[in-house]
Amino acid sequence: MAEGERVSGRVERHAVIESFSGGREVVIFVDGAPIAAREGEPVAAALYGAGIRVTRHASKSGEPRGPFCMIGRCTECCMTVDGARNVRACRALVKEGMRVETPGREG
Ligand code: FES
Repeated sequence: MAEGERVSGRVERHAVIESFSGGREVVIFVDGAPIAAREGEPVAAALYGAGIRVTRHASKSGEPRGPFCMIGRCTECCMTVDGARNVRACRALVKEGMRVETPGREG
């Protein structure tokens, strides 16, 4: 496999960035559905690895939005995490059993 090649939506190896050796595999819940994640990775990375690209919807148009900067600046990834609103998914780290909700989809 070539360096940097994706496996199941994840970059397992990268030519420049040190590889994430990975925390233990855990389950988190996204809009109530379980997904596999790695403890300590950014929530946005876990979502991306699970094929989830939408993290919120624009307040006026309702258009789907997704992570853009991945460094905590753009707020495109703001989600509800364990009941806390407007959490940047690119900065929040995965913990076993955490509940992540897409704004506008909460029950
Ligand atoms: S992707 Fe920009 S703040 Fe998270």
